Amino acid sequence: MKFFADTAEIADIKELAATGLLDGVTTNPSLIMKSGRDFIEVTKEICGIVDGPVSAEVVALDHDGMMKEAEKLRKIADNVCIKVPLTIDGLKTCKALTSDGTMVNVTLCFSANQALLAAKAGATFVSPFVGRHDDNGFDGMELISDIRLIFDNYDFGTEILVASVRHGIHVLQAAKIGADVMTAPPAVIRGLVKHVLTDKGIEGFLADWAKTGQTI
Ligand code: G3P
Repeated sequence: MKFFADTAEIADIKELAATGLLDGVTTNPSLIMKSGRDFIEVTKEICGIVDGPVSAEVVALDHDGMMKEAEKLRKIADNVCIKVPLTIDGLKTCKALTSDGTMVNVTLCFSANQALLAAKAGATFVSPFVGRHDDNGFDGMELISDIRLIFDNYDFGTEILVASVRHGIHVLQAAKIGADVMTAPPAVIRGLVKHVLTDKGIEGFLADWAKTGQTI
C-alpha cells in the first residue's frame, strides 16, 4: 500500500520523505489555509521534495472553471495530480484531464456508487473519506471493501486512495482490504512506528549493553 501525507507543511513532508516511506502528498483548500502559504508556491515546493503524485485541488464548481484552474495547476510540475470534487462537473473535468494524460484524484467520495462513477470517468485515484464517514454514523471501512470489490469485478485501474484517515486502525484495515493508497496526517504516519514493547526492548538491550563495558 502506498503512503501519501495529507498535509501542506513542508517540514513534515521533508522529514517523512527522508524516511523513504513517502509515495506522494495530498492537499486540500483547508490544508493550504492551515499552512498559511501561497497555493502555487507551496505546491511547487512540495513537488520538488517528493517524486510521487501531489494532489492540488480546484475550487471552481463548474467544468469550465475547473479546467481553467487545472490548466494553471498542472503547469506547476509533472507530478501534480488535479483534485476535483465528486460532482457531475468534477467527473466531466476528470474525463477531459485524464484523456489528456493528466493525473486526477476525485475527492469527497462517500458512496461506492460515487466511486464507480469516478472509475468510469477514468480517475487515477478516488478518495473515499473514511474518518468523516465514521463521524456521521456510517462504516468507512465497509465503504472501502465495497469499492475494492466493485473495482476488482470490472478490472478498473482507478486506485483506491483511503482519505480522512484518523488512526492506525484505519491504516491496518485499509491494508487488509487491499486499498492501493492511504493518505494520513504526518502525526498518524509517525504513530505507526510506535510500540511500547519496542521502546521497552531498546531500554533493556541498552541497559545490558552498558554492563558489558563494550563499544562498537
Ligand atoms: O484530504 C482529504 C481528507 O484526508 C481530509 O481529512 O481529517 O479533514 O476528514 P479530514
